[in-house]
Amino acid sequence: MLDVKRIVSLKGKRKLTMLTAYSYFQARMLEEAGIDMILVGDSLGNVMLGYENTLPVVMEEMKSAVAAVRRGAPNTFVIADMPFLSYQPSLELAIENAGSFLKIGANAVKLEGGQEVASIVERLVNLGVPVMGHIGLTPQYVNTIGGYKVQGRDEASVKRLVQSAKELVRSGVFSIVLELVIEELAGQITEEEPVPTIGIGSGRFCDGQVLVLHDLLGVNMEFTPKFVKRYARLRETVVSAVSDYISEVRDGRFPAENNVFKKEEK
Ligand code: KIV
Repeated sequence: MLDVKRIVSLKGKRKLTMLTAYSYFQARMLEEAGIDMILVGDSLGNVMLGYENTLPVVMEEMKSAVAAVRRGAPNTFVIADMPFLSYQPSLELAIENAGSFLKIGANAVKLEGGQEVASIVERLVNLGVPVMGHIGLTPQYVNTIGGYKVQGRDEASVKRLVQSAKELVRSGVFSIVLELVIEELAGQITEEEPVPTIGIGSGRFCDGQVLVLHDLLGVNMEFTPKFVKRYARLRETVVSAVSDYISEVRDGRFPAENNVFKKEEK
């Protein structure tokens, strides 16, 4: 399993791979495939719980997912996403919640925000909690940033992102997620900062990439942003398999003779 030091040391040597997972079997499959890091993202709210955005996600929902992922991927570096208002209200709350993720097996936590969360990051790191930063499009701020827009297109936004990355590094993050940042700026931050950047919708120059598992697998076919590449069309596969099952049960082809138990069999 990677650890924080090794993750940082891989910067510039090879690309890092990260995907989200929320359940035992998803985690098992990602570990089997050899992923570097699993993020139990608060995107769980969208893709697992059917919420409109990530704001309603609570610690209990995240903890249940983190524990399941740890059971499924005992040898993979797991990062737990701190949900909305689980770290912002007070340092005590941030410490308690981040600590509870580590107690159930997470290797690190991720929290959204730049300069405004730097003091929380610093305190957590000083207490022994590895922290991954997350800047650019930060979905927990959707109501104040005016929707899900590409970041870094104007001077003020560039300045804020560059400054936030520096502040997070100064506070001790071991890595930073850059979400929906224009490629040139993501490249600049990647070059300037000593910790690996993990991009989502932020172009080719980041130190690693992350995608939401459901997007990569083609489960959520309604969501088709340009930065997603579908490596499978799982929704079609599942709907087709379930339709076949329905037909076969209805017309008596399932169960067949080889699916049943008889008195004379051992
Ligand atoms: O919650 C999540 O899945 C994330 C990734 C999109 C980086 O934060």
